[in-house]
Amino acid sequence: MAKFKGKLALIGVGRMGAALATSWLTAKRGKIKADQLVLVAPRRNGNVEALVEAHPGLTWVERITPDLGAELDSVIIAVKPHIVIEAVRGLSSVVHPRALIVSIAAGTPLRQLNLAFQNFAIVRAMPNTPISVGAGATSLIANEPAQNPDYVKRAEALFKSGGSVTWLEDERLMGVATALAGSGPAYVFLLTEAMANAGMAEGLSEEAAWSLAKQTVIGAAQLMALREEGPQELRREVTSPGGTTQAALDVLMGEGGLPTQIRNAMAAAERRSRQLGS
Ligand SMILES: NC(=O)c1ccc[n+]([C@@H]2O[C@H](COP(=O)([O-])OP(=O)(O)OC[C@H]3O[C@@H](n4cnc5c(N)ncnc54)[C@H](OP(=O)(O)O)[C@@H]3O)[C@@H](O)[C@H]2O)c1
Repeated sequence: MAKFKGKLALIGVGRMGAALATSWLTAKRGKIKADQLVLVAPRRNGNVEALVEAHPGLTWVERITPDLGAELDSVIIAVKPHIVIEAVRGLSSVVHPRALIVSIAAGTPLRQLNLAFQNFAIVRAMPNTPISVGAGATSLIANEPAQNPDYVKRAEALFKSGGSVTWLEDERLMGVATALAGSGPAYVFLLTEAMANAGMAEGLSEEAAWSLAKQTVIGAAQLMALREEGPQELRREVTSPGGTTQAALDVLMGEGGLPTQIRNAMAAAERRSRQLGS
């Protein structure tokens, strides 16, 4: 995979900003060197502190000055959706006009970003936190100026080092991609918690319940990653008719069961994503 060339500013070093920075700085392939990255945050919070300490050459600034802006090839916006516009105010006049602007803010449409960065190439991205361990799933959509091979390659280089990249055909699909993959890790963590808690309720020790639940989820994920069959087939493989798994799945897949709940949960996430952007 192509290495990321040039200089990059990351605006906002919260949970997701820090996960992205970690993915760039520690990736085995497509790595970004510490001196290629500048962290932009109003204060030196714990994440900034930890990243700067762990990666000599990495710098932190409170804001992008014209000197820095002129050097930038890409700017990643990783602040909360309701402060995106405030955080980037005035930036379009200091950032190099050929820089790629990437926003990971949930629900903030290209239309709004186009207004803040007129005539810039802009990509909206929706990564998820497993990107920090090279196993992320990122959805991307580009505005018109960003739909050229150079920008496409640049945007992909930012996220491919941390996992998979999926281009969406229509920006309206970003809400569902957010509900699926952006929020998705939380669904899997909840499932793990629920399995451990149920184990404890039936008498397993806390240690045994957590260890079994966690390793089961990790093992199942690894099976999905390594085997060619899809999750449906893998599920059928462990379900003998009339057996224990079948008994459990009859409950989970019954009326109002897990598939319905996931459908409703994702619809709620999508609605929230729309609210955040309005
Ligand atoms: N968390 C996820 O799983 C996830 C997944 C995909 C996309 N996203 C998107 O990623 C964005 C960030 O989410 P998050 O969970 O990382 O939020 P977060 O932890 O609250 O981080 C936001 C960071 O922005 C900083 N900040 C506030 N104002 C700023 C400014 N003017 N300039 C620069 N930095 C500023 C905050 O600084 P302080 O620390 O000083 O308050 C904070 O560290 C959101 O738009 C969200 O929709 C999140």
